[in-house]
Amino acid sequence: RRRLLSGMQPSADSLHLGNYLGALVNWVSMQDEYEAIYFVPDMHAITVQYDPADLANRTRITVAQYIAGGIDVEKSTLFVQSHVPEHAELAWVLNCITGFGEASRMTQFKDKTAKQGSDNASVGLFAYPVLMAADILLYRPYGVPVGEDQRQHLELARNLAQRFNHRFGETFVVPEAVIPAEGAKIYDLQNPNAKMSKSADSPAGLINILDNPKTAAKKIKSAVTDDGTEIHFDREAKPGISNLLTIYSTLSGKSIDSIVADYQGKMYGHLKVDLAELVVERLAPIQARAQELLDDPAELDRLLARGAEKARSIASATLADVYDKVGFLPTGARR
Ligand code: TYM
Repeated sequence: RRRLLSGMQPSADSLHLGNYLGALVNWVSMQDEYEAIYFVPDMHAITVQYDPADLANRTRITVAQYIAGGIDVEKSTLFVQSHVPEHAELAWVLNCITGFGEASRMTQFKDKTAKQGSDNASVGLFAYPVLMAADILLYRPYGVPVGEDQRQHLELARNLAQRFNHRFGETFVVPEAVIPAEGAKIYDLQNPNAKMSKSADSPAGLINILDNPKTAAKKIKSAVTDDGTEIHFDREAKPGISNLLTIYSTLSGKSIDSIVADYQGKMYGHLKVDLAELVVERLAPIQARAQELLDDPAELDRLLARGAEKARSIASATLADVYDKVGFLPTGARR
């Protein structure tokens, strides 16, 4: 089976509906066909301001949501980035073949520093895409399932793989970006021209997987809709309704066309009421399962220890190859 790898940051107390529908649902569906490796990039989460008291907890909550959302630890490898030191070690080597100008052109870094100013940004944030490249290249995966917003980072990983191979000899697999069709991008409920994100202007724009069901339902019902009354899909003219249709379609597995046909002659309100119900129905079992997992942190940590061990067996072999190729003196221990 071909290998896949992906991760989601533990940067909030819950994943949001965009992470769930745009990423996790796909990850789950690919577990049988591929040898999947999923991890929680906690080292990426310290590149911005954060509270150390929250991080470990958020990491466990993120893992619990992966599993509650359908990641099967018997089929797939699941681990936490900081448990596998090879990520940081390979990142250093890759930093040394990344151009300063090349890293400066990453749009996510530019966007973030445009708001805060570069004096408030860390070197870690600057080097973040290189760490992400290390995350990927260590496992020599065929593909990396991510949303459109990660495309440029994937492109850097591909460039670094090619550059390293060219300079030091065939070492890395050049990974493919596995990006779902347009349908999988979820927008902010209050501002349907911006992607749903934890840094949303208003909490009403974002549904968290662990939101109280009443809150989640209310957010759907108060979502911004568009002029007119007719329900049909048009991202340009009807971004609000189109976003609700996308959410409906991804949650229910029905096509957008068939949903539109069902709501012929009905009003926006009808769609919202039904969608609110569907969201609550889908989130409830995930929330219950996540809570069960979080009630037994020792068991969760045992699962993660097993995952880290599986991951390290792959990562350490790649890193040993890299260290050898770049000319580091072998340690007695590795001989
Ligand atoms: P992150 O944590 O921002 O997002 C995790 C995944 O969720 C997708 N996503 C969305 N999809 C649809 N609609 C949305 N509104 C939406 N918001 C987020 C993202 O595209 C992503 O697939 N740098 C990465 C984490 C990372 C990583 C890696 C990923 C670190 N190392 C190695 C893959 C491989 C990030 O910050 O994703």
